[in-house]
Amino acid sequence: MLNPPKLIGHRGVKNLSPENTLNSIELAHKLGLKWIEIDVKISKDLVPILLHDDTLERTTDGKGLPTDFNYDDLKKLDAGFSFYNYSTNICIPTLKQVLLFCKRNEIGLNIELKSNLGFEKNNVEAIAKLLSNFNFTNQYYFSSFDWPSVILMKKFLPNSYYGLLIDGFSKDISLKNTLDICEKYNFSCCGFNKNIINSDIMNEMKRHNLITTIYSEKNLKPSEANALWSMGVKSIFIDDPKEFKIS
Ligand code: G3P
Ligand code: MG
Repeated sequence: MLNPPKLIGHRGVKNLSPENTLNSIELAHKLGLKWIEIDVKISKDLVPILLHDDTLERTTDGKGLPTDFNYDDLKKLDAGFSFYNYSTNICIPTLKQVLLFCKRNEIGLNIELKSNLGFEKNNVEAIAKLLSNFNFTNQYYFSSFDWPSVILMKKFLPNSYYGLLIDGFSKDISLKNTLDICEKYNFSCCGFNKNIINSDIMNEMKRHNLITTIYSEKNLKPSEANALWSMGVKSIFIDDPKEFKIS
């Protein structure tokens, strides 16, 4: 059964080290986190890489779309400059490099399937291919705000675990259709924005035997995290775990 811990490092530990880089993942591990979350999409030559945004600007010194560049070019970009404000040799890692690090260090993984401006199906195919050729025996699960991506991934990798991400409810996204999809596809969890969680949602999640995870725009304080865990939240995505006692 999927069993993530109370704290999951968000994009590594994104407030302490450049997000979605090996440096950030290594630091998360050093700080005692047992699981990390990463954002994954593909390059032009279909290499699964770690990148949060649609474009390269915010987190690297590159410009444009990742799908316009082969990984050999993407890896030359500085993925540390925008964090430190000086040049670094920190680069965009591949998912394969991260799987190797996690495997060696027994780190659990949440692979978020990011949208990629029309390349979502290609993302899923390339990531599924990598995972099926890689003997990754650690616990991990896929999640996405782009629900078709997780539904498609489940067709390729039926024995992996899955979750939906929900930033807010709308006329297209209700709690009922979220739960219906989880039931239909046998998904294990839902990740909610902290701003929308409440006891009614928690009750429904428990009734459906689903794991609840919470992410937030700002790093949560231990008091806020404790309140969420008391409600029955299983895991919280954390940007900087230093104020927490990690067991
Ligand atoms: O999965 C939790 C969280 O990573 C979702 O938001 O924008 O940080 O990828 P974001
Ligand atoms: Mg993410």
